[in-house]
Amino acid sequence: MEKDNRANFGSKLGIILATAGSAVGLGNIWRFPYMTGDNGGAAFIFVYIMCVFLLGIPCIVNEFIIGRYSASNTARAYRKLSNGTPWAIIGYIGVLTGFLVTSYYSVVSGWCLQYIYASAAGHLKGDPQFFASYFADFEKDPIKPVIWAVVILVITHLIIIRGVKEGIEKASKALMPALFVILIILVVSACMLPNAWEGIEFLFKPDFSKVSKDLFLGALGQAFFSLSIGMGCLCTFASYFTKDTDLTNSAVQISVIDTVVAILAGLLIFPAAFSIGVSPDSGPSLIFITLPNVFEQAFSSVPIIGYIVAISFYILLSLAALTSLISLHEVSTAFFHEEMNINRKTAATIVTVICSVIAALCSLSLSDWDAISIGGKPLFDILDYLTGQILLPVGGFLTCLFVGWYLPKKIVRDEYTNYGTMRGKFFNIYLSCVKYLCPALILLIFLHQIGVI
Ligand code: PHE
Repeated sequence: MEKDNRANFGSKLGIILATAGSAVGLGNIWRFPYMTGDNGGAAFIFVYIMCVFLLGIPCIVNEFIIGRYSASNTARAYRKLSNGTPWAIIGYIGVLTGFLVTSYYSVVSGWCLQYIYASAAGHLKGDPQFFASYFADFEKDPIKPVIWAVVILVITHLIIIRGVKEGIEKASKALMPALFVILIILVVSACMLPNAWEGIEFLFKPDFSKVSKDLFLGALGQAFFSLSIGMGCLCTFASYFTKDTDLTNSAVQISVIDTVVAILAGLLIFPAAFSIGVSPDSGPSLIFITLPNVFEQAFSSVPIIGYIVAISFYILLSLAALTSLISLHEVSTAFFHEEMNINRKTAATIVTVICSVIAALCSLSLSDWDAISIGGKPLFDILDYLTGQILLPVGGFLTCLFVGWYLPKKIVRDEYTNYGTMRGKFFNIYLSCVKYLCPALILLIFLHQIGVI
């Protein structure tokens, strides 16, 4: 049977690290710390953790169940389970979203590579104005960002073509520990700076007066993106899980790792920024404009440390981006490999080439050429909006309905309990979340994101 020939991850640790690698990405470093700092510190973290438990973990388990049961790429997985009904479309939406996210995510990942180079070469020196114009000039350059995006896609490609065990699992086992070590060293360095305490306080001091509808919906949306829900990454990885993998336990472990990394990123950014009296923002301007300046100034008494911290920070970002890109690339590679009946290498090559072309167009849409805009918005922004705000919530929402209301309960229970070998203590709670609570929450995020509520 096709199931038996299919690759599997070789170990539980490999499963956790590869899937956590998908979850831990740029979202953890450039958005979570800022959202926490700006939305009531510990109060936000508390709400966020609630969102992870109520929404994140059930949605992760959904995708794990579909992926492992069908042992196929995302499109075929939903098709197999939907018995000719239109539910099959969810899988295709996932693959399409994977393609689009891979393309624009690789552009930002490429920027991280450029900044490793620029900090190593000693180019990142100057006043705040310099950092702003350095980034603006780089972003507008028609050639350099395209080259870096292709470079990171090729690195991803070289990992993917080695297969699930030898490529994805081995790479995750090397990259994720490296990421943790660099992160911890950076956190310790930042927390030892003068006035670091103010940053720590800003991050953690609970301010419950800030808990509002916007904060709650923001936390939900962030949990969704940060855990890589709604687009087939988790489903594809789960198709390589072994039958004895405890799905709920794995979902909890991955969520905890993802949240801890996000909080640690805050413990790196805020103490460093507060030590020189800068108030950090979020998104690309935080990591490419504010932070290089912060590192330079905060460690100005021992410049070599500032130099090493800056290089390490961009290596950290690149590792986080790369492990997410691997999972994104795998969604499309598995799709072409299995649906077109071509070998894995050819499938991966098709994906890398198509994504390189879309990534180049995305990058060019931000440059002076600006030929690729729709309705006055650069293609980059359109893909970001279309995937993050629309396709991911739609994918997650439909998956909840599919698992909660359409799939035979027996299949869901069997997968949840590993065919009765585990008790599945929380099965009923999980199923109620998936049927009622999660679709309602996702609907709220969606309406919030498109500005209706
Ligand atoms: N979770 C990743 C991050 O936080 C982004 C991502 C989304 C990766 C969807 C894969 C799929 O950056």
